[in-house]
Amino acid sequence: MATSPSGWEEILQVSTLFTTLLALLLLPVLRATKRRHFINPHLVLVSLGQHATVSPTALPSPPSPILSSFKAPPTPTHLFNGTRQYANSKLLFMYALNPLAPLATSSDSEPQVIVTSRCPGFCVSWLARWVPWYLMWAMWAFYKIFGRITYEGSGTLDSACALGDKAQGGYWMSDQLMWPGENVTSTEGKERGRQVWREIVNVLKIEVKEDMRALLRKQHR
Ligand SMILES: *[C@@H]1O[C@H](CO)[C@@H](O)[C@H](O)[C@H]1NC(C)=O
Ligand SMILES: *[C@@H]1O[C@H](CO)[C@@H](O)[C@H](O)[C@H]1NC(C)=O
Repeated sequence: MATSPSGWEEILQVSTLFTTLLALLLLPVLRATKRRHFINPHLVLVSLGQHATVSPTALPSPPSPILSSFKAPPTPTHLFNGTRQYANSKLLFMYALNPLAPLATSSDSEPQVIVTSRCPGFCVSWLARWVPWYLMWAMWAFYKIFGRITYEGSGTLDSACALGDKAQGGYWMSDQLMWPGENVTSTEGKERGRQVWREIVNVLKIEVKEDMRALLRKQHR
């Protein structure tokens, strides 16, 4: 468990905030690629099937802040559960992803950049480095027995890229193209999504030395 210099718990910073920022910065670049090469560029972002395991009771109800409620790790720190925080961060990212695909679609519904998320599955990685050292051997054995090798997980990136226009706004997992589920599309999900998106944009406006308003406006061409 670690906190970034700007005070965000790092899983949340990387999986939710940073991935959204990267997508917002890449969209204009990919749009320019489309104009130059007459192809539909494909932006594939990493998500996780576990986002659907988050219980609604784990999230505050809007208008209470949702994103910032996960900002600081709990005290005492042994209460921090990395698995849970990882799943939360990916659900919050799914909320951000929902407005990203429409931003990448022109007013006549034609995708300008295809935005898809994908779950690489359970892969051998160093993600569980928050596990205490005396449990590391068990973690290692668990990865060896049940995990996919990293190469297999990264192969989902290639296969997602090959999906084409039909994958706009979709979610690619275990070779299946899916769509945001009730977590995102239910009335409560939509309301939570709007709240999380507002919070993300506000945080990025404050913490990134980039004019977010101009960046968002640029997306709507
Ligand atoms: C997400 O979806 C799953 C499966 O449909 C459901 O069990 C869970 O309660 C939902 N969580 C939220 C936060 O909507
Ligand atoms: C951490 O969270 C996961 C997912 O919510 C849960 O299955 C697990 O039991 C939790 N671990 C601890 C030590 O509380």
